[in-house]
Amino acid sequence: MKVLIAYGGKHGSTKEMAGKIASELESVSAQISPEDVDLIDLRTQKAPDPDGYDMVIAGGAVYMGSLYKSVRGFLEKYRVKLLERRLGLFLTCLTEDEGELEQTFAKSFPADLREHAAAEVNLGGRIVFSNHNRISRGMLKKVTGSEEDIDKLNPEQVQHIVHLMTEEAGTTGEAK
Ligand SMILES: Cc1cc2nc3c(=O)[nH]c(=O)nc-3n(C[C@H](O)[C@H](O)[C@H](O)COP(=O)(O)O)c2cc1C
Repeated sequence: MKVLIAYGGKHGSTKEMAGKIASELESVSAQISPEDVDLIDLRTQKAPDPDGYDMVIAGGAVYMGSLYKSVRGFLEKYRVKLLERRLGLFLTCLTEDEGELEQTFAKSFPADLREHAAAEVNLGGRIVFSNHNRISRGMLKKVTGSEEDIDKLNPEQVQHIVHLMTEEAGTTGEAK
């Protein structure tokens, strides 16, 4: 089973979580081996056509309420093809407020893709102040109310998205 994980973010936490999704998929599914999984960083790599993939997991980081732009571009460009594949959607973001999270999902992903998706998950977020310039640090301090690094990445949500993606697809059984 060919799997595409297409992700985008600027400061590393999205990349890290996308890698964990790949490892978890490979470990729980007998039908998915490392060479079946393409991990594509939409920040630096060309968005691949979903043709040829059985499963697509797409998502990215949220900045000022908006999903990272190249992920939005990928979803818009291939919307129709994504509707024909097993699809998982994720965000990396810090908000834990349910209403705000729902609004962010609604703004980030086209409604028909959300409806079609087998999984929709918030993986949490991380801010490392030393990764930001002085202006950005000042802005983040105002938003977060602190200058402390924040790590709310949630590995349980990695297991959750992989579980949702593999359970009904029957990919956890013996390899063909
Ligand atoms: C400039 C900036 C703006 C952010 N805006 C939001 C936001 O509007 N909502 C939210 O939930 N998280 C927000 N975050 C948190 C990020 O989504 C979170 O840190 C995420 O893990 C970043 O992913 P990355 O490490 O791949 O860049 C913001 C972070 C930064 C640096």
